[in-house]
Amino acid sequence: MSRVTEIRYVGYATPDFDPEVDFYASKWGLDLVPSHDGMAYFKAKGAFEHHVVRLRRADMKRIDVISLAADSREDVDALHTKVSVSGATIISKPQDLASPGGGYGFRFFSPDGLPFEISSDVTPGAAVAVARWDGVPLKISHIVLHSPDHKALTQWFIDILGFRLSDWIGDFMSFLRCNSAHHRIAILPGPACLNHVAYDMEGVDGMMRGIHRLREKAVDIRWGPGRHTAGNNTFSYFVTPSGFAVEYTSELEVVDEATWEPKVHAPSPLLMDQWGIGVGGPQTMPHPEADSGLFQSAEA
Ligand SMILES: [Fe+2]
Repeated sequence: MSRVTEIRYVGYATPDFDPEVDFYASKWGLDLVPSHDGMAYFKAKGAFEHHVVRLRRADMKRIDVISLAADSREDVDALHTKVSVSGATIISKPQDLASPGGGYGFRFFSPDGLPFEISSDVTPGAAVAVARWDGVPLKISHIVLHSPDHKALTQWFIDILGFRLSDWIGDFMSFLRCNSAHHRIAILPGPACLNHVAYDMEGVDGMMRGIHRLREKAVDIRWGPGRHTAGNNTFSYFVTPSGFAVEYTSELEVVDEATWEPKVHAPSPLLMDQWGIGVGGPQTMPHPEADSGLFQSAEA
């Protein structure tokens, strides 16, 4: 069965382009990738993915694209058919991609209007070994979305893109996997938008050293450090100069897909944070607002 197998990158538009570039390059710990289209591309050191962030200078802040991976051109074509038949709006049909790294892919709007891409055959970048105390991101771990109909969107990701349900918290947060990592996407109620993007770090020490570097550069932790229950991953949340939420995480649970049974976790303070010693909380994160680019293609 053709399905999504990984997250590739998130493309953002922002009026605060220069501070945002500086944040990812000199604070967050990503590496600028050379490009010639006026946009800024960033690679995470620890993985082969060509880039994990794309920034575009614009008048309005918005999500330009959430890029997902499939294993082959045949899978891209099959997923294009499934997305089309589901009634979702296609932005561009499967084609060779002009973006750095190339590949073959198509774009569409989710049922809520957020722009997605699914691609294969993107040229890999070079991964380097990240050590315990380097404190830089290895790769994207997961993204969290808000949806006005979060149960319907959860089912859409399962039925159309091939995600599997890992867990729920109550009836308000679903955790979906596209490989053996407990979750790559999670979905909350709310106006259609991105909640946050999480980056996998080299263990708890890698996360803590990353928090240290950000503190040295006057970027304060918004919520954490802590350890979630669903996925058992550690967390620490920050906000970029443009107001997008980002997370350092580590130790996300790897599940045995053959035997995993989804659970419903009852919400409680020590469920959201099993350590219970961090600063802030969900209420200290940016308030969700409908993304200003819903159902509008970001590309010229
Ligand atoms: Fe997260």
